[in-house]
Amino acid sequence: MHIVIGSDQGGFEMKEALMERLTEAGITYLDVGTFDPSSVDYPDIAETACAKYLDPEEHIDLGILICGTGIGIGMAANKVKGIRCANCSETYSAKMARRHNNANFLSLGGRTLGIELAWEIIEAFLNEPFEGGRHQRRVDKIMALEA
Ligand code: RB5
Repeated sequence: MHIVIGSDQGGFEMKEALMERLTEAGITYLDVGTFDPSSVDYPDIAETACAKYLDPEEHIDLGILICGTGIGIGMAANKVKGIRCANCSETYSAKMARRHNNANFLSLGGRTLGIELAWEIIEAFLNEPFEGGRHQRRVDKIMALEA
């Protein structure tokens, strides 16, 4: 498993902590910033992370984005063609986002979640496969809305 991870200043501290957890779990990652706690614009981070995900040469399986609430950075990611980002604050939604929606990005709130819960949400998200079947048809219909 190889993921892309990015945050604005609102998620910077959480990103740093989560990268340690990822390393401990043997999950490799590409960190697209931000690289210090000074202010940045979360759409820029989302755009960079999504571009990395969509680049076949990067071999990225899934993405994680963090801002203060996970809302803005997730909204920005969902504007990028091919991205399905789920903003989750508990593990059930994270699992279902993979199982039914085949989400390829997870967004989290660095100011709304503790690190333990954030990590549990990530584990739920990364470990859950897409179920396919009737859900594939629905995901296809979501993606057709991009046209
Ligand atoms: C930045 O202060 C904050 O607006 C951002 O991190 C995020 O919460 C936006 O949705």
